[in-house]
Amino acid sequence: MPRHSPSYVCQTCAAQSRQFFGRCPGCGGWNTLIEQAAPAADGRRRRQGPPTGEAIGEAIGEAIGRGKPRRSQPIHAVGERPLQRLASGFAELDRVLGGGLVPGSLVLVGGDPGIGKSTLLLQSAQVMAQSCSVLYVSAEESAQQVKLRWRRLGSLDPSPAPALTAEEAGGGEPINLQLLAETDLELVLQELEALRPAVAIIDSIQALHDAELSSAPGSVAQVRDCAAALQRLAKRQDTALLLVGHVTKEGMLAGPKVLEHLVDAVLTFEGDRFASHRLLRAVKNRFGATAELGVFEMRDRGLAEVSNPSELFLGSDGPAAGTATIVACEGTRPLLVELQSLVSSTSYASPRRTATGIGINRLHQILAVLEKHLGLPLSRFDCYLAVAGGLDVEEPAADLGVAAAVVTSFRDLTLPAGTVLVGELGLGGQLRPVGQLELRLQEAARLGFRRAVVPRGSGLGGSAAELGLELLEAGTVAEALVAALGVDPAADPATQSAAD
Ligand code: TYD
Ligand code: MG
Repeated sequence: MPRHSPSYVCQTCAAQSRQFFGRCPGCGGWNTLIEQAAPAADGRRRRQGPPTGEAIGEAIGEAIGRGKPRRSQPIHAVGERPLQRLASGFAELDRVLGGGLVPGSLVLVGGDPGIGKSTLLLQSAQVMAQSCSVLYVSAEESAQQVKLRWRRLGSLDPSPAPALTAEEAGGGEPINLQLLAETDLELVLQELEALRPAVAIIDSIQALHDAELSSAPGSVAQVRDCAAALQRLAKRQDTALLLVGHVTKEGMLAGPKVLEHLVDAVLTFEGDRFASHRLLRAVKNRFGATAELGVFEMRDRGLAEVSNPSELFLGSDGPAAGTATIVACEGTRPLLVELQSLVSSTSYASPRRTATGIGINRLHQILAVLEKHLGLPLSRFDCYLAVAGGLDVEEPAADLGVAAAVVTSFRDLTLPAGTVLVGELGLGGQLRPVGQLELRLQEAARLGFRRAVVPRGSGLGGSAAELGLELLEAGTVAEALVAALGVDPAADPATQSAAD
């Protein structure tokens, strides 16, 4: 039961109403009214209670900027505080955060239900609790459930030995991990204020509930209100907040989409339900690069870091017709990835094309380029393409690899072992340069690849030789495939064998 009648505010024109309307009476916009907690009679939020002398002093202090004059100052004169980051316990998580968790920052971790968000944060909390105080607020699971999970994760590598409380361990190192199973925002705020932890984890923001609002937990109004209240408190007491947010069926961060501007960093945890690896990416990060990628593997005792992810996305069977290896780059992280293709004559009026892990439009475009510039009659063939390991490769640098996989399947050829292909295809059949080529070549060399087909003009001949890589430069897709395969795939094998 709400403690007072709700009020609704239009998000477009700020018109207020006591009643909910699907269409704003002010501006006529649809679904723009959102419930808001009305201020109490004294103008402050109820949860803050009647204003005490101290509270009034604080409010005045805030209003006048705590005695400091609110004036501009030369940028070089602005005092700097060294950014001391907290190690999260996972090097992969630290990398995505930009080098660790920044005290007082607000981080949203989004992902599908069941992907492993709670597991990741509980494991991380466990490690962080050895160097600072951590509060884990479980709004979805009971304290018993969290404890069971904690036990299950206890002896996981690479975290240190099972962390038990002092009594349980019989006098070992106590850990500073507090658990609160609570959905009421008010109580969570009280606990945060009482404990003043260095890190607090809220699992999940959609399950928290502000009793001052009549809308259901998880609604936009609730999520925004809860996050804003937590943020105010966390910034004031320098608590780093990790908020868990669920992704809806439509793939949106439900509610949390409205939080994206409020938080300092948005991380998404994704992965294939049927594969064990999980990818953590930063979508927004005020304290680091956004393109970073962290790779984990879900095991029966929790998440383990994968520090050598290329091995995950490489086929183990060696080269075969229809496979090609590319070096994709996620942020500053090169990944060797195997592409697989199957081209077979179609029995449909229009051939079937499916792509897993690569945009279908990109595949259509590459097939059209191959048809036009190599003269391959691909429009009479079905074409299936997949990225091994369930990774999504969005980069155009994968184009040449896609072309090679399709052509080798079509002609039943095999690329020589140890060959990688990198390059973007232009519509005219030309190969265009890609970024971070040197980094990609280093990773390929590290994993034992010996030949790299790259766009012309890379200027990396010297460093490739140092890496022990044979560098094959090409100006067009046709040249690149001839260089990679040693035969001309554009030539019809029937006429070729007749000529032999
Ligand atoms: P969970 O962290 O509860 O997901 P989320 O919080 O994102 O909803 O992870 C749940 C899944 O992970 C569940 O399907 C079981 C699996 N799991 C493991 O495979 N190993 C483990 O050690 C744990 C704790 C969970
Ligand atoms: Mg969970």
